[in-house]
Amino acid sequence: MLKRPFQLGSLQLPSNIFCAPLAGCSDLPFRRMTTAYQPGLVYCEMVKMDALVRHDPHTYRLLDYEALMHPIGAQLCGSKPHLAGKSAKILEELGFDVIDLNCGCPVDKVTKDGSGSGLLKNLGLIGEILSNIIAAVKIPVTIKIRAGWDEQSLVGPEIVRIAEQAGAKALAIHGRTREQGYKGKAHWEWIRQCKQAAKNILVIGNGDLFDAESVERMFLETGCDAALLARGTFGAPWLVEDVYKHLSGEPLTPRSAFDYRDALLKHLDYVNLYHAPRKAAMDLRRIGCWYLKKGQGTRRLRESLNKSKTLGEIRNLILDYPWHETDFMTPDLVPEEAEC
Ligand SMILES: Cc1cc2nc3c(=O)[nH]c(=O)nc-3n(C[C@H](O)[C@H](O)[C@H](O)COP(=O)(O)O)c2cc1C
Repeated sequence: MLKRPFQLGSLQLPSNIFCAPLAGCSDLPFRRMTTAYQPGLVYCEMVKMDALVRHDPHTYRLLDYEALMHPIGAQLCGSKPHLAGKSAKILEELGFDVIDLNCGCPVDKVTKDGSGSGLLKNLGLIGEILSNIIAAVKIPVTIKIRAGWDEQSLVGPEIVRIAEQAGAKALAIHGRTREQGYKGKAHWEWIRQCKQAAKNILVIGNGDLFDAESVERMFLETGCDAALLARGTFGAPWLVEDVYKHLSGEPLTPRSAFDYRDALLKHLDYVNLYHAPRKAAMDLRRIGCWYLKKGQGTRRLRESLNKSKTLGEIRNLILDYPWHETDFMTPDLVPEEAEC
């Protein structure tokens, strides 16, 4: 069976299909949408070690979660070993089930002090930070990497060994280099190479998992132990359920335009309950686009959403739209131009 429980140290996760950390996206409303479909594990977006240690309220808010979201992981971003243990301890006290170390964020602001994918250039530091985290907490620790800084410096298998030595329980690899950003295809062979190098660490595959079928293919092509869904859940919070059904040979639930509309309205309600009005309206422009670009005949609504100033306005636009004239069911329709 490709879908199976996943043993992370002493913690048994109910499945090996996980939802990734997504900075600026995987906030509490977003996680309410995806966890309704019961991923084996969901991660909050990355938080900076420094900010956590100085008790920055904005950072703590990124870690908000509800009881139903367990098992839930938090992800640390930073490059200072002396902050690693302290910040990990804070996460453990907040009730997280898993702590992950970010070695993949490609953003200049993050890599310039050696954090995120900056760590891919300093493997000794990865070992030191991981060891400090692991020494400070009882919960299992994972690491999430890219394959290397660029194609000339692929370091996945080397980090597998470092992470094993430090005592990490799993390693997630995004099959792209830092240089690639999000461009081009994810190289799943780099995931396979990590899996081949792994002796006592589980390998989680990540990159370009946009539908259930691609998850099956990744398992078969790489031999990875778990799959980490990321952008594929934008506008499709049910992707985890699709994957479960596909992997157990059941037909997928067909989703009509009205299913998309209702999910979008639910997501809007969650955002409304959680964020201040201005932030909520700005977020909904982006979130609306995720859902709408999956269908044909939604361009007019997308354009109107992008000009909306309030959530009330956005809700009315969605409710008044002629959804029966849109098409979310025909596979392989050429997508309309969508900027979001
Ligand atoms: C908007 C956005 C925010 C992200 N934030 C994080 C993050 O906080 N931590 C992290 O490890 N990866 C982050 N990632 C990377 C994803 O978790 C994932 O590795 C990447 O999107 C590749 O998977 P995909 O091709 O299936 O989307 C982010 C990606 C995107 C698009």
